[in-house]
Amino acid sequence: MRLANPTMLASGILGLSAESLGNIVKGGAGAIVTKSVGLKPRKGYSNPTIVQTSCGLINAVGLPNPGINEFVKEIREAKNFNVPLIVSVYGFSAEEYAKVAKKAVDAGADAVELNVSCPHVRETGSEIGQNPEVLAEVVRKVKASVPKPVLVKLSPNVTDMVEIAEVATEAGADALTAINTVKAIAIDPETAMPILSNKIGGLSGTAIKPIAIRCVYEIYEHVKVPIIGCGGITNWQDAVEFILAGATAIQIGTAIAQKGPSVFKAVTRGINAYLKRKGFKSVNEIVGLSHRN
Ligand SMILES: Cc1cc2nc3c(=O)[nH]c(=O)nc-3n(C[C@H](O)[C@H](O)[C@H](O)COP(=O)(O)O)c2cc1C
Repeated sequence: MRLANPTMLASGILGLSAESLGNIVKGGAGAIVTKSVGLKPRKGYSNPTIVQTSCGLINAVGLPNPGINEFVKEIREAKNFNVPLIVSVYGFSAEEYAKVAKKAVDAGADAVELNVSCPHVRETGSEIGQNPEVLAEVVRKVKASVPKPVLVKLSPNVTDMVEIAEVATEAGADALTAINTVKAIAIDPETAMPILSNKIGGLSGTAIKPIAIRCVYEIYEHVKVPIIGCGGITNWQDAVEFILAGATAIQIGTAIAQKGPSVFKAVTRGINAYLKRKGFKSVNEIVGLSHRN
């Protein structure tokens, strides 16, 4: 998959309609990733589902989505934008992941990203990504059912990221996305209760950037497939840090809330200026550069 620039939209932020994905393309993203879609429609959790903390957002939205049969309309429309379209999929079994992935690719997705890392919905997401045998089965079944690249999005909420990354690649993952949100909670002192209706959610934004970079750095030394860095990127310096750790592309989510879709153009411009200033010809020359002896 070739990208005009190394920036991509992260799943779950403005990714539920072709119209909002179009705004992200106008903002300069090199690829777009949809909100995670499942086999059946899901309402998600009741409010509050997102809480702003001093260092980032905690969300437990509960994977609201219209289901793949309805979502194919958006895929067909978003396919007309001139950037690769990656559909994020989830399921409650390996068969479900494979079915949703096939429908997404049949509708025109250029790749699928497996959400095996959502930290707040039972029996899917990170409950799959934290279990090596189940994860391998999901990746194998999806690979067998689609002829397009399969990205596996990893959870940081595991003891050993490297083990999980190796399981995913041995099962056939074409690329790894690292990371999804970090399990977190916020409690209101006045009510003395957790703020989110689901109580526990996932932290995103600048607070998780050093964790995400550590994950990319660790994985890079053990896998050969491309790694897409994600977590707390707000400017070009953050993006370059991820690339130096080993990422070939990066995803941006939470920062869009403060900076708007033009964050993609600003980050790309900054990366290009950095490469020029340092005498590099392409991003590939700096992927994993911080690992040299
Ligand atoms: C409101 C919200 C919804 C999200 N929904 C999804 C989702 O549906 N699927 C997924 O794989 N990740 C989802 N994520 C995680 C992001 O894609 C990303 O991995 C995470 O937020 C870290 O990147 P960031 O700090 O740039 O936001 C969501 C994040 C937020 C804040």
